[in-house]
Amino acid sequence: MERLIFVAGDESQTARLGAALAEAIPDGTVVSLCGTLGAGKTRLVQAIAEADGVDRRSVVSPTFVLLQEYQGRRPIHHFDAYRLRDEDEFLGLGPEEYFESGGISLIEWADRVESCLPAERLDVRIEVTGDTARRFEIEGHGDRCAMAVRRLKELLGS
Ligand SMILES: Nc1ncnc2c1ncn2[C@@H]1O[C@H](COP(=O)(O)OP(=O)(O)OP(=O)(O)O)[C@@H](O)[C@H]1O
Ligand SMILES: [Mg+2]
Repeated sequence: MERLIFVAGDESQTARLGAALAEAIPDGTVVSLCGTLGAGKTRLVQAIAEADGVDRRSVVSPTFVLLQEYQGRRPIHHFDAYRLRDEDEFLGLGPEEYFESGGISLIEWADRVESCLPAERLDVRIEVTGDTARRFEIEGHGDRCAMAVRRLKELLGS
């Protein structure tokens, strides 16, 4: 496991983290996003998607649709588990197929469906530490994701 703590003083720093993540994570990466309402999960997905060539305005919280897909340089599968009844409803979306279909998968409120996620993944926990301040704890589990976090550290110079 490899861990990185990134402190964003404002949204532009979150955007910088998202761009670095887009570069650091290889195809097939599953990213779990945890944090309270308004922590910045969707904002981070926007930054990752934008760095992959997607218009960020098309990235909204998929709270009511559970799953959205964007076509950037690679497919981005954006899940939101907030309104799911239970894990079975999540499994009904066929997440494994998306996880394995190439591109990257990003799951908001991932703690609600944790047992449905692969052990090899990137865990991102976001804490609100001020009006525009956020603390990101990023953990890479498994060889590929640990390597991605090491690459992320290089890109961020931290
Ligand atoms: N440093 C920052 N990083 C991210 N968002 C920030 C930051 N500072 C302020 N914000 C604001 O915080 C809000 C984050 O909202 P966002 O929709 O990304 O949260 P969320 O975690 O997806 O919430 P939800 O659980 O409702 O989906 C936005 O209004 C954004 O402008
Ligand atoms: Mg959201």
